[in-house]
Amino acid sequence: MNAVESTVRYVLLGTAACFVLGLHLMNSPRSARRGNALSAAAMAVAVAATAVLLLDRGSVNGTAWLVLVLGGAFGSGCGLYAARSVEMTAMPQLVSLFNAVGGGAAVLITVQDLLGTDHPAGLGARVTLPGALDVVIGTVTFSGSLIAAGKLQGTVPGRPIVFPGARAAAVLLPVGFLAGSVWLVLTPDQTAPPLVLLGLALVFGAALVLPIGGADMPVVISLLNAFTGTAVAMAGFVLGEPALIVAGALVGASGSILTKLMADAMNRSIAAIMVGGFGTGDGGPAAVGAGGPAAPVRPVSADDVAIQLAYARKVIVVPGYGLAAARAQHELGDLVQLLEEHGVEVSYAVHPVAGRMPGHMNVLLAEADVPYPQLRDMDEANSEFPQADVALVVGANDVTNPAARRPGNPVSGMPILDVDRARSVVVIKRSMGHGYAGIDNELYTDPRTGMFFADARAGLAELRSAVRAFVG
Ligand code: TAP
Repeated sequence: MNAVESTVRYVLLGTAACFVLGLHLMNSPRSARRGNALSAAAMAVAVAATAVLLLDRGSVNGTAWLVLVLGGAFGSGCGLYAARSVEMTAMPQLVSLFNAVGGGAAVLITVQDLLGTDHPAGLGARVTLPGALDVVIGTVTFSGSLIAAGKLQGTVPGRPIVFPGARAAAVLLPVGFLAGSVWLVLTPDQTAPPLVLLGLALVFGAALVLPIGGADMPVVISLLNAFTGTAVAMAGFVLGEPALIVAGALVGASGSILTKLMADAMNRSIAAIMVGGFGTGDGGPAAVGAGGPAAPVRPVSADDVAIQLAYARKVIVVPGYGLAAARAQHELGDLVQLLEEHGVEVSYAVHPVAGRMPGHMNVLLAEADVPYPQLRDMDEANSEFPQADVALVVGANDVTNPAARRPGNPVSGMPILDVDRARSVVVIKRSMGHGYAGIDNELYTDPRTGMFFADARAGLAELRSAVRAFVG
């Protein structure tokens, strides 16, 4: 190893340390931006250091450099454009596409290495075993993530798609993976084993995700994200690249933890989700009363709510998916600011799976410059609801449904925000339409609950005008 190579190795070790630190900083919304910036900068340094290594070795010719530079510029441009232009509600699809790209890239690198001819000592099991795992996991991630993104975008039907022979395929394909991996390890210089594994895994990825309902997709995407990391780590073993191993292992581990947290917060087991989901995606608004509970609800006007809010000492806002769908975070921030100027104490209760992806509400509220100390996690908020004069629910449904405390329904056991323990409740939503779980919300028929039927954005703007008119 010459001086350049050993320097680059130290730099790559440093970048790996920055990835760990970056992930740690993402623990808190306060430091998450810094964590993201640090990780992105470390990745840029890792790419540059690798380029220096390639230059030093002189192993890449002029045409290959052109492909590398143009490919890098094209990929970065597409990523930057997609990340900047995507709507917050379409973020899960984007993450899914990124997973597909990550898994696919890890597979291409490994297949190229396995089929390459520059292995003077031949390929040992130390390379072929992680190689087989990479091809299987990365390809399953690739095809599964494309289907998942299609389901969320509506280009693939969101309902569970079941096809004849699915059960047989679910058993036979993993047996095929085992046989193909043994074949690859025993005959490392043959072209067929990696390609057969790749073909089987493409089918398995699609067969795995098609039967899952669109509404379970965020959990599936998080799981596929963990798969992407694992595939990248395996590619690191194949190439003998510690930086890839560390980066991949971090994504794999954090993705697995996130998947478990999300499944727990929805009271669903990961196995139950993979075997088939109960949700079928978001429908349009239902007519007022349609599909709603038999008991009457109490509709209220903007003026009624404005008076309630203006007289309150303590208000807890509960944001949900409807806030994101209406892109109403700024209108909410404006209303809260006005109430605070009027001396009302306001905080936000954030359920871990409110919205459609992890941290959805935190990101929206940060966009509206909501100060971090105003955010309450579920446990903190639940201890504060009994002292709240008004719980203002904006486009949240399942995460507030008291039915979760009883067995025998789709939200049973799901930890909820105890909104019904506040002195009064106001719910802003367009209709009596259901949420993700597709069931009635008993909160709406509680005598202390007023239903303000409106689109969240228009309703919050109307409410702000009404509060302003009232407080002068
Ligand atoms: P949901 O239960 O899905 O309810 C959202 C409500 O927003 C709907 O009832 C809808 O009612 C209303 N809405 C939609 N568009 C609106 C608009 N423009 N203006 C006003 N209201 C609007 O949302 P939630 O309470 O946030 O719960 C999240 C659910 O998603 C949970 O069941 C959770 O398990 C599930 N989930 C979450 C995640 C993550 S990681 N966040 C992942 C997978 C699943 P109307 O149609 O009547 O307006």
